[in-house]
Formats: sequence, structure tokens, C-alpha cells
Amino acid sequence: MNKANIFVVFLTILVLNASAQTKKPVSAEEAKMNSFINNLLAKMTIDEKIGQLNLPSSGDITTGQANSSDIAKKIKDGHVGGLFNIKGVEKIKAVQKVAVENSRMKIPLLFGMDVIHGYNTVFPIPLGMSCTWDMDAVQKSARVAAIEASASGINWTFSPMVDIARDPRWGRISEGNGEDAYLGSQIAKAMVRGYQGKLQANNEILACVKHYALYGAAEGGRDYNTTDMSKVRMYNEYLPPYKAAVEAGAASIMASFNEVDGIPATGSKWLMTEVLRNQWGFKGFVVTDYTGIPEMIAHGMGDLQTVSALALNAGVDMDMVGEGFLGTLKKSLSEKKVSIQQIDNACRLILQAKYKLGLFTDPYKFCDAQRAEKEVFSPENRLIAREISAESFVLLKNDNNILPLKKTSTIGLIGPLADNTANMYGTWSVAALFDRSVTVLQGLKNALGADAKILTARGSNFLADSVLEHRYVNIHNPTYLRDSRTEAEMIKEALKVAEKSDVVVATIGESSEFTGESSSVTDIQIPETQKNLLKALAKTGKPIVLVLFTGRPLALKWENENIPAILNVWFPGSEAGNSIADVLFGNVNPSGKLSTTFPQNVGQVPLYYAHKNTGRPLAEGKWFEKFRSNYLDVSNDPLFPFGYGLSYTTFSYSDIKLSSNTLTKGKSITASVTLTNTGKYDGKEVVQLYTRDLVGSITRPVKELKGFQKVSLKAGESKQISFTISENDLKFYNSDLKFVAEPGDFKLFIGTNSRDVKEASFTLK
Ligand code: BGC
Repeated sequence: MNKANIFVVFLTILVLNASAQTKKPVSAEEAKMNSFINNLLAKMTIDEKIGQLNLPSSGDITTGQANSSDIAKKIKDGHVGGLFNIKGVEKIKAVQKVAVENSRMKIPLLFGMDVIHGYNTVFPIPLGMSCTWDMDAVQKSARVAAIEASASGINWTFSPMVDIARDPRWGRISEGNGEDAYLGSQIAKAMVRGYQGKLQANNEILACVKHYALYGAAEGGRDYNTTDMSKVRMYNEYLPPYKAAVEAGAASIMASFNEVDGIPATGSKWLMTEVLRNQWGFKGFVVTDYTGIPEMIAHGMGDLQTVSALALNAGVDMDMVGEGFLGTLKKSLSEKKVSIQQIDNACRLILQAKYKLGLFTDPYKFCDAQRAEKEVFSPENRLIAREISAESFVLLKNDNNILPLKKTSTIGLIGPLADNTANMYGTWSVAALFDRSVTVLQGLKNALGADAKILTARGSNFLADSVLEHRYVNIHNPTYLRDSRTEAEMIKEALKVAEKSDVVVATIGESSEFTGESSSVTDIQIPETQKNLLKALAKTGKPIVLVLFTGRPLALKWENENIPAILNVWFPGSEAGNSIADVLFGNVNPSGKLSTTFPQNVGQVPLYYAHKNTGRPLAEGKWFEKFRSNYLDVSNDPLFPFGYGLSYTTFSYSDIKLSSNTLTKGKSITASVTLTNTGKYDGKEVVQLYTRDLVGSITRPVKELKGFQKVSLKAGESKQISFTISENDLKFYNSDLKFVAEPGDFKLFIGTNSRDVKEASFTLK
């Protein structure tokens, strides 16, 4: 051994010793679990171990088949670790019985489901929820979802989805929390806390963070498409929410479909082991996405045996639907392409999750039919949904204070979403009761009672082309019965209604399935036939309120120029109509703020506030300058910036007071503003804190969100709002991927959105 080698060995011993010393001691509870699982593993055959790694969909099980289906046979043979998409406590109980009574090892199953924004009680779609900027509300919605799902037998939800998305063409932007790493991280933590609690009670379930990683950065916004980005960007802008969820204790994580750095995430050892486990200390299990393993064949990574071994060796533990593990791992073991340690390790992690859920003590812990009766879709849960939905709405425009509406007005309620139950929910509402949502019409009637003066007209279909409309609207379930009249006939009827009304409420936009999985588009405007309706209504000169349903940021240039009031309600969920009425009539003052930038047109995409300055930035307020970074045809400005949202009241911000202009490492400074409610209504404001690092070892964004507070103020009231800033808040990953804060000058901004801010400066010493 030469000197250099001896030195390396010496160093390695030092490092190993140090890590052994810093390793946390195993608690008595953990030791008990380990010995229980060791015992179990010692008794299991290879087939049974591999069986635990298999997660089929329960698609073919109907009531009465629990014991006789194909899946039941696999369960009896010990070839299934969990099932998903099975609904109903009795059915789940019957299937669990097969596992714990008829399989040799009697190991209980996990029951998973995409409980994404509520179970029977549906909350706003996640993109809407993120616009509440209210972490208590976010956590509460996840708690209610966990209570309802667990009362129905589910013990594992495939949520939260925390993929950063900056491209509204991508349909799944609706399922995430928008464009920002900081806001996304706060939401990720709140969701995990809400679902899992302490993972003790029978209403606390496993969370599954998805889709790890970078799924939201698909090229061209086309679903499942390639992503490619620098590591610096990944670490600073895309990975933080997954990391935050892991730090909050998420029990599982789902691999994404896309490739990262040339390797499909499902087969990426760098992602699944190096980053996730070694850097972040993740202790839970990794599941693939639906057929993620066999999809690596099409990615060009080899045959089923090769890609299955690739996934296991990368650090993936459970195979959703693909059956690559089930079909090939034994062969790979005999050919030494995978090791028994790797199989044991994956199996151990899944058994641990079952142990932590308490399934070995009581496999029917989540199968209490009485709970389901009382706790699912209860009036209390619906009330919570109603309040949270109203908080997610973003008032984009309110000229001449058209809103709130007077209850005495005659309202012309027009549009394909005026009286539509199924499309109040938005995508991934797998347990929604399609006929039980409150429609807008019903909500207005509930609010107005016997005095209601509401006239209605359909006004338009979702799309003019019936074939396309089927693809956009009814692909999963028939949620909309198309009106067979021509566009002109429908507009004519709508104009008659408008004529007799004091105000027109136009319920227009997307149906639930315009966004979601495999629902990408290249045009992000309101479909032409609906726009034609709006244009005709605008010509009447009647005051119009556009109640916009959407699962993505839309390009609303024409609407912004021609419609006086726009309330973006996303997809509000079960209580849609009631919460919309609450806001329209001013019982609730809107307080939602955008978590994604709304571009002027699709050509500006991706457009996000935390962009880099470039070497040729366009001067502020300019439209175009030759040889600057801009477009010939449209300014660089968004239509509505990140963090934007109006209220029925107005807020004024004082200048920023800094406790010091120097921040010394290890210390902190305070930035304060006085916020005053200068309008006539009580209201809530989201006060936002941003910083800019003026000089860095790598280029830094022009603004980065570093904090926010949602505060309530009575009309006329003032409050001092303070933020504490320490060195930690200024850290970023440098080009060596070290998390550092670099001394130097910073700007600090506080304001009502990412554009309209007060400014101060300080130096980090
Ligand atoms: C989706 C996941 C989902 C899974 C199971 C996949 O197609 O990408 O988000 O959890 O199906 O339903």
C-alpha cells in the first residue's frame, strides 16, 4: 500500500468512527420493531419477500370477489404487499381478511389511494389550496382527508404532490402548489403533518410525497416528457419541497415517470439513494409510480429483468402495477444481478411501515364501519371545506367595486358551470360523490333564500367541437351533458337573460378534466366558444363578474381588458356553490394570493417571479429595447404576478424598518412594516417577504420568497408585522452544491405580491 492509500484508509476509518458516534441510539420501541421484523424476515421465503414489494391496483375486485379474484389468489400466495384504488370499508376488510387469514405469513396489506384534495368531502384542488397561503387550513384539509379516508379503510395516501411547476400547459400543475420552492416547502410540511399526525391513531395515515423528482419540469409542458436541468437549479428551486416533506417525516415517496439527468427517476441511484437517503436521511420506503418500472423499457433502459434490477439497486422498494419485481427479481438474485440484502432491505422498509401503522397489532384498525357512517362527509367536514374553499379564491380584478354583489339584485347566472355538480371538484377526486356537490346556482339560492332573483342560461358548451369536448370533459365519467343547440342559439338565450338582469355572473372556464394527468395543452386561453359568449355579454354593457373555473393559470388578456370583475375559484370542491356565494355576497372577503404567475400569453411560458436577471435585463417599466432580454411583441410583465390577489378592502404598507442594516453571522435582524386596512371591510392580507442577493458566486434570482404571514385586520385597523432574518434564510446551494450564505449586500422587500413591494437594504457580514 502506498502512502496515499494508507492516508485514504486512515481517513475512511476516521469518518466511519465519527458517523458511528453521531448515530442516534436505537429507542426501546425501535428495538422492539427491529426484533419483530427480523423474526418475520427470518421466516419468509424469497418469494414472500418479493411479494411484499408488489403493489397491484385492485381494479378487478368488486364486492363479493374479495376471496375469488385473481388478486385474492396472489394475496393468498403471499405475492402482494399492498393494494390501491379499493373503496369501501367492508371490501377492504374482506381483502385484509384474505391476507391475514389465508396467506402463510399472515402479513396485513397496505391500502393506498389517491386522496389528493379530500375524500368524500372534497377540498379545492391543490393549486387552489396553495393560494390560501394558510398553513393551518392546508394542514386541516389534510387532516379531514385522513379522517375520512381512514374511516373508509385507507391507510396510505398518494399525496402530497409537491412538484414545482412553472408551465401552465402541463395539466398536472393543478395537483401541485405552484412555482415557488419556499411556499411549496411550507405546504409540503403542513400536508404531511395533517395526514400522518403521530401515526398512532386510527385516523392517521401514511403520506406519500410525489413525484420524486422534477416531474413538473416536463419539456414543453407535455406530460411524462423529458426534464433536464442543472444540479444547482434542482437543489435551489425544485428539490426543496420533497426535502421538506422528508424532514417532516413523510413515510413514503413516489418515484416520478420522467428522466433526471438522462436516467429515469425510477432507476436513478443518485436520486433514490444518494440524495434521498444519504443526503436527506429518508427512512421510509420508495414506491414507483404506476408501471414506472416497465416504462423504463420504452425509455430505452433494457428489458423487464434489467429495469427491475435497476430500480431495486437504485433504492426503489415497491413496484406499483408493473410486476417487474414479482416476475424477475428471483431470477436476478440467482444471476447475482441483485443481492438478497437489497431485497431484504426493501421488504424491511415496507414491513416497518405496516408496523408503524399498527397493522400487525390490529390489521382491521382502519376498518370501523361505524366511523365511516359518522365521520365521512359529515356536516362538520363540509363546513371546514366551505371555509377553506372561500379562502382559496383569488380576486383578480374588481373594477368599480362591482363585488360584493347586492343581495337584492337580479342575477343573470350564465355559463356551462352554472348548474353543474360533477365539475365542481377538479381532477383526482376519486372518492367524490358526484351528485352531492353544491352547484353555483344552488349556492346562490341558499344564500338568497326565498328572495332570490336568479335567471339562468347555459350560454355555451365547454368547447364547440363535440369530439374534442369529450376528450377534455367526459373522458373518465360523463360529467357534462352537452347542449345540442348551436353557439348562436345559446348566446341568444344568454343575452335575453342578461338583458333582464342587474348583474351577470358568468361561470366559465375549464371542466375538471381540462387539467390533471395527461391533460396538457398548447393553448391556455378560455376556449373560443366560451369567449364568444363572454364577448357577446360584454357588449350588453351590463356589469359582469367572471367566476372563473380553472386548474391552471390561463392567459386572460382579453378578459382583463374587457370584463370588470374576475374571481378565480379554481375547482372549489364539495361546497363550491356555498363558498362562491359567501364571497360574491361579501360574507367572506377574498384573501387568496396566486402561487403561480399568470402570463399574458402562452409564448411567455415559463414565466416566474424568481427569475435571473441575465446580462441584458430590460429596465423596469420598459416595454422593449433592442438587444435587451425581451420579446418584440409582448412586454416581459406577467398579467398577474406571483403572490397577487385583491380584497374587497385595501391595505397600505408603511416603509420597512430594519433593526439594523448589518446582519452578523449567527445573529438576526428584524424587518417590520405597519400594515393598515384602509378600506371599508374587515379583511385578511398575506404579507410577503422577499430578498435579493446582489452579488453571488453563482447568479441569484431577482427575488426569492423568504417568509409570509396571513393577518386579519378590521377596517381601519393597523398592525405591525415583523419578520426575523438570519444567515440561514440567505443560504443557497453554490456550484459545489454546498448550502452557504455568502457575505455581501442584500435587498429586502415586503409587500402585497411579488411585484408591489417596499424595499430596504442590508449587508451580511
Ligand atoms: C399518477 C400518480 C398516482 C398513481 C396511482 C399515476 O398515474 O401519476 O400520481 O398516484 O397513478 O393512482
